[in-house]
Amino acid sequence: MSALPERVAVIGGGRMGAGIAHAFLMAGAHVAVVEQNASAAAEARERILTAVEGSIRRGATAPDPACLLVTVTWEALSTAGLAIEAVPELVGLKRETLRRAEDLLPPDAVLATNTSSLSIDALAERLQRPGAFLGLHFFNPVPASSLVEVVLGTATAPSTADAATGWVAGLGKTAITVRDSPGFASSRLGVLLGLEAIRMVEEGVATPDDIDTAMELGYKHPVGPLRLTDMVGLDVRLDIAEYLARELGPRYEPPELLRKMVAEGMLGRKTGQGFFFWDDDGNSVPTALGRRR
Ligand code: NAI
Repeated sequence: MSALPERVAVIGGGRMGAGIAHAFLMAGAHVAVVEQNASAAAEARERILTAVEGSIRRGATAPDPACLLVTVTWEALSTAGLAIEAVPELVGLKRETLRRAEDLLPPDAVLATNTSSLSIDALAERLQRPGAFLGLHFFNPVPASSLVEVVLGTATAPSTADAATGWVAGLGKTAITVRDSPGFASSRLGVLLGLEAIRMVEEGVATPDDIDTAMELGYKHPVGPLRLTDMVGLDVRLDIAEYLARELGPRYEPPELLRKMVAEGMLGRKTGQGFFFWDDDGNSVPTALGRRR
């Protein structure tokens, strides 16, 4: 395993930040999570400790409790070798957060963002050391996802990219390297497949279940594109498709069926119905969508 930075700071301990903190903690780093206020910090700590307990139950060695600090002060950044920003997906908030982090970090530290869609170059605009900045796109849920997209901005230095790729390996995950571009590699390809699958349902080509089976058995995808759309959330997919259509062109234009289902509150697993019906245990059963009359 590649060495990790001894001290890692994560800014924002929400769904993703807590997952990232947990990953570094279990791999042996000292982790400081910076939150915006005391109640958010308490929730972040709870999320991380719950994930740690889950790992221990599955046989992992318990980390030293002294290795985790959840705080509302930014002091911990002054000794971090890596800081990862995981605040909400708002360009202004992220720019401000990154700039503040850069001011506090040691001069040789790496600064990363976990943005899922914003441009790395746009986020780097006001940084003094854009060579030490890049995207580390972790996937949700972090413990169960072995992929991390390492996203390189125009100014990202090769040494920054190499260090980050090594750290991802140190977490036991696999890094792929992507140039800063809309949707990176994962969403650009995955969303297109999902949209085409929805168009196929719309045109009555096959049922969602049969389309998913085609990809699962024919192309060895672990989950078909329509179940995956349900799991991600149809509203989330619609937002990403609209963004990619603006950035990359009409091939990402959302199908009418997707808009209609979102408008009707069929958002997928979280509402119990999307292209499939979902129960509380995460089991899916087919709906009448796409059936021949
Ligand atoms: P979230 O809303 O669960 O967490 C954001 C956290 O940031 C909250 O705990 C909030 O209190 C904290 N925060 C807000 N302002 C802050 C500030 N000024 N200083 C410190 N902390 C602050 O959001 P989530 O889902 O964790 O997303 C975070 C980032 O990760 C976003 O950029 C998102 O696009 C990206 N992402 C999300 C994925 C997902 O599936 N949820 C997947 C991959 C990336």
